Parts: sequence; C-alpha cells; structure tokens
Amino acid sequence: MTSILILGANGQLARNTTRIFLRDTDARLTLYLRRASRMGNPDPARVRIVEGDVTNHKTLQAAMQGQDVVYANLAGDMKPQAECIIEAMHGAGLKRLIFISSMGIYSEVPGERYRSVLDPYRDSAAVIEKSDLDYTIVRPGWFTQDDQVAYQLTQRGEPFKGHDVSLNSLSDFIAKLALSERLGVPP
Ligand SMILES: NC(=O)c1ccc[n+]([C@@H]2O[C@H](COP(=O)([O-])OP(=O)(O)OC[C@H]3O[C@@H](n4cnc5c(N)ncnc54)[C@H](OP(=O)(O)O)[C@@H]3O)[C@@H](O)[C@H]2O)c1
Repeated sequence: MTSILILGANGQLARNTTRIFLRDTDARLTLYLRRASRMGNPDPARVRIVEGDVTNHKTLQAAMQGQDVVYANLAGDMKPQAECIIEAMHGAGLKRLIFISSMGIYSEVPGERYRSVLDPYRDSAAVIEKSDLDYTIVRPGWFTQDDQVAYQLTQRGEPFKGHDVSLNSLSDFIAKLALSERLGVPP
C-alpha cells in the first residue's frame, strides 16, 4: 500500500486528486496544509491530516517519515518551497516527487510568451531538475471542471499540445504517477 504525502492539500487540484486517490486506489494519504481546521477528514481510516507550512523544516520532515511519494500542489514563492521539500526528502530518505508546475515554463507553448508570472514555476523547476530525486514536473494547461478524463502528454523539449485540461484528467494522471516509480521520471 503506497503512502502519499500531499503538500498544499487544500488546493483546488489537490482536493480533487485526494478524492480520486480515495476512489481509485488503496493509497494511504497524509494531507499537509496550513490552517488544517479548514478541512474535514474524508476517510479517517486512510487519511491523516497534518497542519504545516512547507517552509517549516521540522514539521515537513516529520510528515515525511514513512511516506513513499511526495505530491506537491503549491503556489506562491515556489523556489524556496522546492528547496525545503528537497532538503526534507533527503533527510527522510525519500526519492519520488510529483511537483505541479505550469505550462509555459520552457517557452514550449506555441504563440505564447509567459513572462515573469511564471518565474516561481521556472525557478522551482530548475531547483528540482538539479536534484537527485525521481521527480516528475507536471505542466498543466488551464484547469476546467469537465467530468471527462481526456488528455495528451508532451515531454520536455516538445511543443505543448492543447490548452485546457480537466481537473479529473490531471488527478487521473497524478494518481498514475504516484503509483509508479518511473512513470514521468526523466531518463
Ligand atoms: N488554475 C489553472 O488553470 C492552472 C493552470 C496551470 C497551473 N496551475 C498551477 O497549479 C498549481 C495547483 O493549482 P491549484 O488550483 O490546486 O492551486 P491552489 O488552489 O492555489 O492551491 C495551492 C495551495 O498551495 C498552498 N500553499 C502555498 N504556499 C504554501 C506553503 N508555504 N505551505 C503550505 N501550503 C502552501 C496554498 O495553501 P493556502 O490555502 O493555505 O493558501 C494552496 O492551498 C498552482 O501553482 C497553480 O498556479 C493552475
């Protein structure tokens, strides 16, 4: 049974993916979020809730004990967040990281030039790429509420295809990534 630590667990995509993990897998989840009183426990037999900021090393390191996979669903000042995650993963001996970023960080979207708004995403990706972790940086398009699961994947170095993607599609892909040691990990 895989143990997954979800960082930024109150995020829109994280909440949807928690639902999919509970519906489609037997994974055990640790939901890590600020102000945990906002969230009810959706399945106390499989879910633990931890209050913490990702930049709080002590709390983060403690939450990483016994996990197999870290799924980071963050926003804001993402470079220091990524640095804290890597340090804590090293401390806990973890290797597998799924990190939600954004389309456009490699100037890979035809016709689009996203400028400084993507700097936190570029900078955090650069930090992760330099690490020795088994990481997957997910670069989604715009989220939609469609129920449908339908998506196409592009690898780094390829032009981005599509524009919108349903939350359910992303959650489906994240669940597959979390249950695989190598899917989406650069060679
Ligand atoms: N929406 C789109 O169409 C789209 C498209 C491409 C990429 N993205 C990106 O994909 C990512 C995930 O999206 P989302 O909609 O799930 O984002 P979201 O709802 O904004 O969730 C991000 C979460 O990160 C948490 N967070 C930020 N700093 C933190 C810290 N230091 N410690 C702990 N938690 C922290 C926030 O916690 P609080 O609730 O406590 O503030 C929030 O719950 C975001 O970076 C988003 O920008 C979005």
